[in-house]
Order: sequence, then C-alpha cells, then structure tokens
Amino acid sequence: MRVLVTGGCGFIGSNFIRYFLKTYPEASIINVDKLTYAGNLENLSDLARSSRYYFVRGDIADAPLMESLVKKGLDAIINFAAESHVDRSIEDPSAFIRTNIFGTFVLLETLRKFYPQEKIRFLHISTDEVYGSLGESGSFREETPLSPNSPYSASKASADMMVRAYHHTYGLPVLITRCSNNYGPFQFPEKLIPLMISNAMEDRELPIYGDGLQIRDWIYVEDHCRALDLVLHRGKEGEVYNIGGKCEKTNLSVAQTILDRLGKPRSLIRFVADRPGHDRRYAIDFSKIERELGWTPRVSFEEGIDLTIRWYQEHQEWWRKIKTGEYLEYYRRMYQNR
Ligand code: NAD
Ligand code: DAU
Repeated sequence: MRVLVTGGCGFIGSNFIRYFLKTYPEASIINVDKLTYAGNLENLSDLARSSRYYFVRGDIADAPLMESLVKKGLDAIINFAAESHVDRSIEDPSAFIRTNIFGTFVLLETLRKFYPQEKIRFLHISTDEVYGSLGESGSFREETPLSPNSPYSASKASADMMVRAYHHTYGLPVLITRCSNNYGPFQFPEKLIPLMISNAMEDRELPIYGDGLQIRDWIYVEDHCRALDLVLHRGKEGEVYNIGGKCEKTNLSVAQTILDRLGKPRSLIRFVADRPGHDRRYAIDFSKIERELGWTPRVSFEEGIDLTIRWYQEHQEWWRKIKTGEYLEYYRRMYQNR
C-alpha cells in the first residue's frame, strides 16, 4: 500500500507514520509537510534512512505539487495537515482558512481530476470540536449537528462539508474521522498536556484558563492511530467515524495529576483569563466505530499520562529546543498580563 500523508511532521501525523510503517512491512509513505512552527523533522528522524519513507517539503494548497504527488500512484491520502491550535486561531484566523479550508479543497480538486480512473481513498482527519460545546450531560454522535465555535473549529467544519460534498456530488471515496483531545509523545508544547508537563519540569507556572472546570475527553495518540488504520482499511466510503477516549477530565484535574506525578507543588497552578468563546465540555460517543470496526481505546489515562510524562522527561532536548525564540514570543503574547 502506498499512502500520501499530509502534515506528517506534526504530532499525530508523525505518530501515525511510525505506527503504520511498523504495522505494514510492505507499506510505503510519502509525507508532504510545509514545516510550519508545528512541523518538526526530528519527529521522524528515525525514519530518515528508511526506503519506505519519503519526505517532501510542501504546502497542500500548492495544486501543481499535489498533482505531481498523486501522479506517483497512490492507494490513499490521509490529510492531517492543518493549523491546529485554537488560541492561535483566535489571535489570527487567516492561516486556518488557507490551510484547513483552501488546502483541503486543493486536495479534493486534485483527486477529482484523476477520478474515476484513480480511486484513491481520502481519509480526512477532522475533530470533535466541529460539534461545538456540550452541557453537563450527553455526548457527540456522528449525527450531531455541526456548531463550531472558534475560527479553528469553523475552518475544520468547513473542510468537513467540502469533503462530504465531493463524495455526494462527484462520488469521491472519502472518509472523515472526528477525534477528541489527543496526548502523547511529540506533541507541541503549546497544547495543554505538554505545556503543563514542560512548565512543571521547568518550575514555571501552569496557566489554567477561567475556572479550569472545562472538560475534555482525552485519548492516547496510539489509540487514535489504531482507529485511523481501521477506518482507512475498513471504513465505509462517505461516512463519518467519531473516535474518543471515554476519559472525561477537567483541565484543573489534568494539571494537578501532572504536578502530583512529577512531585511538584500544586501552588504552581495559576488561574488566568479565560479563552474567548471557550467550549465548556466535549465527550464523544464512539459506539459506531466500536460496533462496525471493533475499535475501543486500550490505553487508560493513568497509563498514558505516565508514558507521556516519561517521554517528556527522556526527550528534554526535543522540547527545550522548541521553547526558545519564536515560541517564547508566542508565550509572552499569550500569557503575559493575562
Ligand atoms: P500539529 O499542529 O501538531 O501538526 C500539523 C502539521 O501540519 C505540522 O507538521 C505542520 O507543519 C503541517 N502543516 C500545516 N499547514 C500545512 C500546509 N499548508 N501544508 C502542509 N503541511 C502543513 O497538529 P496535530 O495535533 O498533529 O493534528 C493533526 C490533525 O488532527 C489536524 O488536522 C487536527 O485538526 C486534527 N486533530 C487533532 C487533535 C489533537 O488533539 N491534537 C484531535 C482531533 C483532530
Ligand atoms: O478536541 C480536539 C481538539 O483538541 C483538536 O481538534 C485541536 O487541534 C487540539 O488543539 C485540541 O483543542 P483544545 O483547545 O481542546 O486543546 P488545548 O490543549 O489547547 O486545550 C485543552 C483545554 O485546556 C482547553 O479547555 C483549554 C485549556 N487550556 C489550554 C492551554 C494551552 C488551559 O487551561 N491552559 C492552557 O495554557
């Protein structure tokens, strides 16, 4: 199987590429990544010499480049490439529109050009954030109406609608997954868990938005990768699959767990101004993928957070290098005087 992965130098993409090449010894992967601030070649440096892995630096919004990659002969495209951080989308949505919406459109148009001679499966990686926010009860199902609240989630929902339309109108063999909050190795330290771990290790404050009682449904990244593999191989074209961790936790309790595990004082927690338009609660009903493809998450939060903390302890060079220059400017903009 020959797969084009977009955004493979980011967090989930790099975990997926490693998982996929290990699981399928005959498979090969082309990874196209623009290497934005979130893309890091070091995330896949162990594969640099593999004959089954090929890296191309490029933008998914570059139509001639996408066409040249599709012409290489592919079985599937998995679209991870995105601007992925909600806070950055609030600061400036433009890159989110360009990559998440226009970039996805370029990929779809490229596939349309070659269809039906080339029947390349297109797995689009979406997010549970397209459904909006929940009250104290209930969970997102695939039929839940889309109600995105941030520029990030609105851009992801727009892309989902285009992917859906290209199946409905042109018959393209597409699949969409909507997963909850991932954590694990190689996550950029702007996201809650790696930020809390690395700040605690540096004895810095842990900034918690608002009252910290917002709820996210956490999933270990390897469980997500296994679900994507199943959807890619056995998912029904035109369908959406929700993926979740069955692991609802408040942000405050996540921060406290990390401090306790690292033996650091809870007094490092600092409550800061809330995120504008902050979604209160996410929870995923993943009974469809469980029923149809036999998937359930395997890694408990206790196990996953220990693995993740250990990874950040053993890879300090990786995140300390990131937390310099541009990152420090971002951090000051985001957290100073908040
Ligand atoms: P990330 O920010 O870590 O990585 C994104 C990658 O995309 C980076 O390597 C970046 O360089 C690349 N990229 C950005 N713009 C590009 C462009 N125009 N062309 C080519 N490459 C480009 O993101 P992540 O957390 O790994 O998320 C991957 C995907 O999964 C995203 O689509 C995101 O919306 C989705 N998702 C993430 C989570 C999560 O918890 N992180 C949960 C559900 C869904
Ligand atoms: O639900 C899936 C989504 O999860 C993905 O689609 C996004 O790409 C991914 O970034 C993530 O979005 P969130 O906004 O939920 O993740 P983040 O790690 O930014 O924040 C998690 C929660 O923690 C959220 O309620 C905001 C809060 N938070 C975050 C940061 C960075 C804090 O309280 N303090 C912080 O410093």
